Amino acid sequence: MSGKIIRVNGPIVVAKGLLAKMYDLVRVGEDALWGEVVKIEEDLSFIQVYEDTLGLSVGEEVINTGSPLNVELGPGLISSIFDGIQRPLPLLESLSGFFIPKGVSSFSLSREKRWRFLPQVKSGDTVTEGDILGKVKEKDTFIHYILVPVGISGKVLDIQEGEFSIQDTIATIESEDKNLVPVTMLQRWPVRLPRPIREKLTPDLPLITGQRVLDSLFPLAKGGTAIIPGGFGTGKTVLEQTLAKFSNCDIIIYVGCGERGNEMTSVLHEFPKISDPYTQKPLMDKAILIANTSNMPVAAREASVYVGVTIAEYFRDMGYDVALMADSTSRWAEALREISSRLEEMPAEEGYPPYLATRLSQFYERAGKVKCLGRDGRQGTLTIIGAVSPPGGDFSEPVTQASLRLTGVFWALDTSLAYRRHFPAINWSQSFTLYQENLRKWFKENISSDWELLLGKVRELLQKEEDIQRVAQVVGIEALPEQERIILESCGMIREVFLIQNAFDPIDGFCTFKRQKKLLEIILNFHEFSWNYKEKNLSFEEIINHPLKEEIARLKELKDEDFFSKVEELEKKLE
Ligand SMILES: Nc1ncnc2c1ncn2[C@@H]1O[C@H](COP(=O)(O)OP(=O)(O)O)[C@@H](O)[C@H]1O
Ligand SMILES: [Mg+2]
Repeated sequence: MSGKIIRVNGPIVVAKGLLAKMYDLVRVGEDALWGEVVKIEEDLSFIQVYEDTLGLSVGEEVINTGSPLNVELGPGLISSIFDGIQRPLPLLESLSGFFIPKGVSSFSLSREKRWRFLPQVKSGDTVTEGDILGKVKEKDTFIHYILVPVGISGKVLDIQEGEFSIQDTIATIESEDKNLVPVTMLQRWPVRLPRPIREKLTPDLPLITGQRVLDSLFPLAKGGTAIIPGGFGTGKTVLEQTLAKFSNCDIIIYVGCGERGNEMTSVLHEFPKISDPYTQKPLMDKAILIANTSNMPVAAREASVYVGVTIAEYFRDMGYDVALMADSTSRWAEALREISSRLEEMPAEEGYPPYLATRLSQFYERAGKVKCLGRDGRQGTLTIIGAVSPPGGDFSEPVTQASLRLTGVFWALDTSLAYRRHFPAINWSQSFTLYQENLRKWFKENISSDWELLLGKVRELLQKEEDIQRVAQVVGIEALPEQERIILESCGMIREVFLIQNAFDPIDGFCTFKRQKKLLEIILNFHEFSWNYKEKNLSFEEIINHPLKEEIARLKELKDEDFFSKVEELEKKLE
């Protein structure tokens, strides 16, 4: 099955006589560049090429592999750094200019490395797809489960224990139709096809991020979806990276998609130095990075999110909590737009193809809390958090609007907050979460029964502040009634002490729920105290300039040992 190139148009190559199916993976030209068939018209195949097409000429051969783009799944994935089509990127330099040579078909996972396989079933046992066959220890502590491949069930004829490479047969299963199926630790899956599950469940546990404004005001559930829209410099990348560092997940997949190479390089430099706040283990021991930066071919950017989400599903299927961060989905949509225009498709809004929303939804739909395949009833979650970079920070553009309708949390970043260096620049009146209801029970049982009441008060104060500010802009602060000025003061405290959080601060960068709650309580107590200042025989000036305010503001700097005793001391003083 081979054809000839008849036209080259940027990342799109047209070949004649290829006899291809949609999404067939092909090798293009003398350099055997990787490509994928994305449109078929009679005997013409339109191919998006994942590598630089410069130098390709008409008449060169195209060979059809006959199978779709798939990923390699198995031990060795963790700590890997891949390009958009899962080729390993061992060198940092590869992100800042040094590319993988054209047409290289390096394996994603090492064929040499040997892994100690421990069977969990024995010969004679009956197994079905998704059952755990055995386990492998990867990194120091991670248990990588080897599952019965999708579509296979039957009797285990033979299962090995010992050191194996991922291509060695570790078990043989006799299928129901009496076929002998050799099973290895290496499995493959086509990236555009969601991996099957037993059942979708309601996401009802929070993804804890250690970021106060997110955890408290706009919580995301494990298995849910969130977007982070924001203009240039509002903190999308910092927030995505912070979430990668601090989310309480077993596996983190970070897809750097179409953004500057140096940002990805900084991730690569930084992640290995960071330790997971929950386990104190190096962050890279649970991370996989996929890099398709702005200087890399545009078609591979289109593929990179599917590669990421397929690897994420693979770990979810073992029963883990997985989070995928994509920075930025707008650059991904732009790749879609460019390819679509080269295919001469009819453009819809702002030049994006009419199927933009469908594609986005196919991506976000792969998130979820699920009952995995396999008979042990284990559950896994896949959370997706996509950054969106609307041009000029205008949220009415198509990518933001389409994503907004498909996802459960909207963490809106605000240019004016970022300009004032209020970080994370989450706009508290624009942002929302749809998971509040499902998480209610967890908060009630794990944080406190009055948690919602507490947050209700905070929301109410912030809402009042907005109204008062509007009046203040006309009449001036001095002309406001004293009680309203107290609300402004308290909201100032909510912002400074609670909402603002420096992601790079060694103490305050990650804030536990216990601390979040104490901070909120002390701020609200102080508000109560100042609201009734007259009963305390204080003057308005005295309450506005009260020394306790400074002490509350400095709580964030304290380590846990001092923090809780100091809060207690302040609470006593307030009484
Ligand atoms: N949570 C944060 N804490 C401290 N500084 C931040 C935070 N978020 C953003 N910043 C500052 O804003 C700058 C721009 O953020 P970045 O994430 O690169 O923006 P974007 O990706 O939206 O263009 C960062 O270099 C950093 O100085
Ligand atoms: Mg960025």
